[in-house]
Amino acid sequence: MNVIFLGPPGAGKGTQAVRVCERLGIPQISTGDILRRAIKDQTPTGLAAKSYIDKGQLVPDSVVIDIVRERLEHDDCKGGYLLDGFPRTVQQAEALETFAKIDAVVDIDVSDEKLVERLSGRRVCLSCGGTYHVSRLNGSTTCEKCGEQLIQRDDDKAETVLSRLSVYHAQTEPLIDFYTQRGLIKKVDGAQPMDECYAAILAVLGA
Ligand code: AP5
Ligand code: MG
Repeated sequence: MNVIFLGPPGAGKGTQAVRVCERLGIPQISTGDILRRAIKDQTPTGLAAKSYIDKGQLVPDSVVIDIVRERLEHDDCKGGYLLDGFPRTVQQAEALETFAKIDAVVDIDVSDEKLVERLSGRRVCLSCGGTYHVSRLNGSTTCEKCGEQLIQRDDDKAETVLSRLSVYHAQTEPLIDFYTQRGLIKKVDGAQPMDECYAAILAVLGA
């Protein structure tokens, strides 16, 4: 099954993608994770992407489209894949149609107010991708899974969060109509607790 996770920043795309991919045995392809790795490794793509990400803006379509097109050619995508955070513009969605056949688009929906609270309290492990919220860490600053130091993403600082949300409403939300017209949208309430959200996603995917 080839699946897209759509939804605003902080909706829980990454959190749910890890579990869903493990269950379905398919790779999670997160353009955000790929770009952050490129920044860390100081590749030309990373250097070009950094200024956009730091401002909470989208990286140019041509850059992310090339990344995804190349990634989908890998053997591990032959049995299906989950796109987490791509496409994010109508232009990206139109490009995707030329090289992929999508079976379902899960739209994880959460109010802006809750998103700000989630993102400003998020802590991540750059080593294994573990994602936490400070309210559940009980003062710990290390990753439960691998013991590495947790960090706050630069784009989770308050001002950047607000600009990411407005970019989402202007540029990514129109994709809900785009995929509704194609009969692919499956809506899930992302405000419910994580386990309920996970169960709801499996249900809409029939998995
Ligand atoms: P990206 O990394 O994709 O960020 P995003 O879309 O802003 O989404 P997030 O990763 O912030 O949120 P999420 O939905 O994964 O939530 P999470 O599971 O972590 O992109 C970053 C940047 O890269 C972009 O701004 C852009 O510049 C660039 N980029 C990436 N893709 C691009 C593209 N296609 N085109 C152009 N540019 C691109 O959860 C968030 C928090 O909430 C966590 O603390 C978590 O513990 C908590 N939480 C999750 N679920 C629940 C729940 N059910 N209840 C309570 N808390 C919860
Ligand atoms: Mg994410």
